[in-house]
Amino acid sequence: MLRKLLLFAAAAVLAAVTVTATQAYEVPDQIVLDRPKENRKLNTWVAPVKFPHGFHAIRLACRQCHHKESDKTMGQFVGCRQCHTDDDPTERSGFYRAWHSPGPPSCLGCHTRMRTEGGKNPVGCTTACHRSK
Ligand code: HEC
Ligand code: HEC
Ligand code: HEC
Repeated sequence: MLRKLLLFAAAAVLAAVTVTATQAYEVPDQIVLDRPKENRKLNTWVAPVKFPHGFHAIRLACRQCHHKESDKTMGQFVGCRQCHTDDDPTERSGFYRAWHSPGPPSCLGCHTRMRTEGGKNPVGCTTACHRSK
C-alpha cells in the first residue's frame, strides 16, 4: 500500500484567488512503476521501478512532471500511466517515452539534464532504476 505524505503548500503560490493561509494535499510517498500488462518487455533485464514520489514532490514543482495538470486539479492528479499506455517506444504519448524521453518531464530526461548542472541524480539503467529486487 502507498504510504501517504502530507504536503503543505502555500495557497498563495497555487492560486492568486485563494485567501486561506495554507492548504494540505495528500500525495503518494512511494510508487512502483510497472508496465501495463499487455505491453511487451523491451529488454530481459527490465524490472519495475521504485519511485520516491514524496522526495520529488517536496523538491520540485508538481507541474514539472504532471504536465497536463493545472492549479485547479491540485491534489487529484491523473496518473501518467492512465494516458501513457501505448506500447510503441517511439510514440510521444506512449509508456516508454514518459520515463525516457530526452527532456523533462521524463525521469531520465530530467536526471540527465540536472547531472550536467552538477546534480547527483541517478541515471544507471540497472544500477539506479531497474533493479531486479
Ligand atoms: C518528479 C516528477 C513528479 C513530481 C515533481 C510530482 N509528481 Fe506526482 N507523480 C509522478 C509520477 C511519475 C506518478 C506516478 C504516475 C503513475 O502511477 O502512472 C505520480 C503520481 C501522483 C499522484 C497519484 C496519481 C494516481 O492516482 O495514480 C498524485 C495525486 C500526485 N502524483 C500528485 C502530485 C503533487 C500534488 C505534486 C506536487 C506537490 C507532485 N505529484 C509532484 C511524478 C511527479
Ligand atoms: C491526460 C493525459 C496525460 C497525462 C496524465 C500525462 N501525459 Fe505525458 N503526454 C501526454 C501526451 C498526449 C503527450 C504528447 C505530447 C503532448 O501532447 O504534450 C505527452 C508527452 C509527454 C512527454 C514527452 C515525450 C516526448 O518524447 O516528447 C513526457 C516525457 C511525458 N509526457 C511524461 C509524463 C509524465 C511523467 C506524466 C505523469 C507525471 C505524464 N506525462 C502525464 C499525455 C499525458
Ligand atoms: C524534473 C526533474 C526530475 C524528474 C522528472 C525526476 N526526477 Fe528523480 N530526482 C530529481 C532530483 C532533483 C533528485 C535529487 C538529486 C540530488 O540529490 O542531487 C532526484 C533523485 C532521484 C532518486 C534518488 C533519491 C535519493 O534518495 O537520493 C531516484 C531513485 C529518482 N530520482 C528516481 C526518479 C524516477 C523513477 C523518476 C521518474 C518516474 C524521476 N526520478 C523523475 C529530479 C527529477
